[in-house]
Amino acid sequence: MAELLIGQLLRFEGDPMTEGPDVARHSSRGAVVIEDGRIAAVGEADALRRDWPQAAVTDLGGRLISAGFVDAHVHYPQTQIIASWGKRLIDWLNSYTFPAEMRFADPRHAADVAALYLDLALDHGTTSMCSYATIHPESVDAFFAEAEARGMRAMAGKTCMDRNAPEGLRDTAQAAYDQSKALLQKWHGKGRLSYVITPRFSPTSTPDQLSALGSLWAEYPDCPMQTHLSEQVDEIAWVRELFPEARDYLDTYETFGLLGKNGIYGHAIHLEPREIARLREVGAALAHCPTSNTFIGSGLFDMRGLTVAGLRVGLATDTGGGSSFSMLRTMAAAYEVGQLRRYPLHPAQLWWLATQGAARALGIGHAVGNIAVGMEADLIAVDLHSTPAIAQRAAQAGNFWQALFPTIMMGDDRAIAGVWIGGKAVRAVS
Ligand code: GUN
Ligand code: ZN
Repeated sequence: MAELLIGQLLRFEGDPMTEGPDVARHSSRGAVVIEDGRIAAVGEADALRRDWPQAAVTDLGGRLISAGFVDAHVHYPQTQIIASWGKRLIDWLNSYTFPAEMRFADPRHAADVAALYLDLALDHGTTSMCSYATIHPESVDAFFAEAEARGMRAMAGKTCMDRNAPEGLRDTAQAAYDQSKALLQKWHGKGRLSYVITPRFSPTSTPDQLSALGSLWAEYPDCPMQTHLSEQVDEIAWVRELFPEARDYLDTYETFGLLGKNGIYGHAIHLEPREIARLREVGAALAHCPTSNTFIGSGLFDMRGLTVAGLRVGLATDTGGGSSFSMLRTMAAAYEVGQLRRYPLHPAQLWWLATQGAARALGIGHAVGNIAVGMEADLIAVDLHSTPAIAQRAAQAGNFWQALFPTIMMGDDRAIAGVWIGGKAVRAVS
């Protein structure tokens, strides 16, 4: 039976990064009809009530109905080391990340953390994400099994490393190829799941491994590929030592067949002009991880330069390098980084980057990340007065964007009043 959700509504009819905030559509008394897990109609509440007299009505009052958040880059195995103090990228990986990832050799641990992470994501209104797993194939199975059980559109891949990682967290070029291929054949396109070919980053893969994964991608070009690129200055210097022949960091991927339009490159902070030009030429996407980039001390992403250059950018938590599970907190950090870059993002742009922008970066923008007829009904209801501090500020708002912005800057999981996955309520409207 059809269900009619009534509330404030926010959706997009274009890309506010390139076309400006006016492509956002806000309705103060809008509605969405959900039928068979998809959005069957969108419009004004009164009109849709008339047109859908049989539909069960859920009136959300002043809460904001939006597409669920999409997190373009996350490491679910790092859930339990989020907010670990005092290190920068390479010693952060060695001190915190690798010991935590080692534990995923135990499938029970992998299943527990996958469930924990996905429940936290839903609590925070994140309905889809693209995750790194660990070196262990079981960590991919665990993640997909838990995502499937929740009916989520989710993406993930086995994180491949065959050097510069401790014993127990290294595979080989051949094992990376074989295991990735087997996982891809098992999970890619199964229900709402997508497999993502995942070399961690150039420093932890030999040329042979990068080449093997490049060959796998050539066999399955429609499959996404994710990796890290130019996150921290010390890392770039290390890449230069490890790949003396390479023109730049991106070249270490390009040479081995790991540059393409279905590629998602995390961080991408310290890019050379040639790298930007090549990323743009092939139509690759970037994942902007602002809480991670400040937390690990990596640098300030050039949102203006890169979107003007025509690159697709999605917003991402990068949990646990990132310091929050919340895409609201992540939007706030993106705004703050924009301020430091003298490019203050409009609330419409921030919201888009956390929904349709991230979905497009991941190649799933046709299915999720916006409210439009035919799209999958992964929705959230957002309380714009979720704490006393936010409520008193929102009460002063003169328009919708002013009412929304305090929740972007100060909101967290308390602002998520309801979550629907494939049209089913999975978090109660409270
Ligand atoms: N570069 C390589 N691996 C990682 C990781 O796990 N997190 C972050 N932030 N950067 C990385
Ligand atoms: Zn990452």
